[in-house]
Amino acid sequence: MTLMVDDLDRIEHLSTLIAEWSASFLKQVDQQSVAATNHPRPLDEPLAADGLGAEETFAEFKKHLAPGLSGSVGPRYLGFVTGGVTPAAMLGDWLTAAIDQNVMVAGDSISTAVELQVIEWLRSLFELDAAYEGVLTSGATTSNLLGMLTARQFAGEIQDIDIASEGIGKAEIEIFSACPHASIRKVIGFSGMGRNAITEVPCLPGSEEMDVAALEQLLTHSQAPGKIVIASAGTVTGTDFDDLTQTTLLCKAHNAWLHVDAAFGLFSRLVPKYKSLTNGINGADSITCDGHKWLNVPYDCGIFLTKHPTLLQRTCSVSAPYLAVSDELPSLMDRGIENSRRFRALPIWMSLKAYGRQGYRDLVSRNCEQASLLADWISKSSSYELLTPCKLNVVVFRPSESKSDVQQKLTEINQTGLVYLTPGNWFGTPCIRAAFSNWRTEKADVDIVCSVL
Ligand SMILES: Cc1ncc(COP(=O)(O)O)c(C=O)c1O
Repeated sequence: MTLMVDDLDRIEHLSTLIAEWSASFLKQVDQQSVAATNHPRPLDEPLAADGLGAEETFAEFKKHLAPGLSGSVGPRYLGFVTGGVTPAAMLGDWLTAAIDQNVMVAGDSISTAVELQVIEWLRSLFELDAAYEGVLTSGATTSNLLGMLTARQFAGEIQDIDIASEGIGKAEIEIFSACPHASIRKVIGFSGMGRNAITEVPCLPGSEEMDVAALEQLLTHSQAPGKIVIASAGTVTGTDFDDLTQTTLLCKAHNAWLHVDAAFGLFSRLVPKYKSLTNGINGADSITCDGHKWLNVPYDCGIFLTKHPTLLQRTCSVSAPYLAVSDELPSLMDRGIENSRRFRALPIWMSLKAYGRQGYRDLVSRNCEQASLLADWISKSSSYELLTPCKLNVVVFRPSESKSDVQQKLTEINQTGLVYLTPGNWFGTPCIRAAFSNWRTEKADVDIVCSVL
């Protein structure tokens, strides 16, 4: 207890130490190795009986943990789809920890109202229908889970089964998807519908885009009263977009729930050149988007939107006398998985206020230009082959000379410490992906990546 009291007494000094270290990490991250590829581990030591206090512990962090960090906030971490962190979002996250609000039920603070405002700002940023409401989650996987649980409730109610109360029982549900992200399979497993409930819809030739004519056939012949269609707005490798206008029409005609996974693809709506990719998205019953990707707010943060907030509430809400604190605002615990919840809205609120609609438009269009520059370089190179045209922010390629050994090439590239790229698979061909989604990336970084390649 004394150690904690002492630390609180010296909190100004301790905060300054951390702030200075963090500032210098952020400023120098582009001069350090982009990834710690040497499998770093913390010291193999037992939990101490007596603590060191925060200042000495911070010294241990600098000595033993800091050398093992990745430069994922920096400009040349192009693995997976990894957002950076804007300065305002980072400061917002520091504040979130310092004030440690629990955004479970309203009634004790402004935090629920702020999250609702942030959801409304995001709806407006993406120019989505006013009917969408939602909640912040821990990421796109959790948003996809909420999408599947709400869709499952819809499919159950069609069959007079309240799945949240009665269980899935005899409900018959068929799920249709062409190129779902791996997280979709994961959450369908959690939902109790079972991964085998997915009927695979063929893709258009040479693309990850759903063949809507095939979807129409499958929906027409489906015997299941409950139907769920999962569309992609930006697949993780090819960045392909399903035809959401046609898909919406089919879903309406067959009384199917339409869930759109737009974890990063939703951001294409910010740039006029790409806006038509998501035409029809306003027909979706639910949408997944990520905050920790292209919004460049810290982990973890996802966004879930639905036109059916009461169905979401029926899916998630339980009552308990100790939680009945306020009925002025919805309880956000009734719209998601967790009861106690972090004040995730604050970093978003800070970043949207600090940089506005235009700041985010610039960020997205710059990243797309950078991806297209890299794709141009690759298509002209004799050492690499572009596997599919770059459509948004991801470049998919492979070495042309060592076709079988993509992994070895990737290891060599990443061990330079100048860039971090991750693997993928393009129609059975192992490939390398470079995904641009960090506000700090500049054209000079693309030049560095080309020189490494
Ligand atoms: C299309 C898509 N959906 C879902 C996810 C899962 O996102 P998260 O890791 O934030 O849960 C990703 C991650 O790359 C994605 O690209």
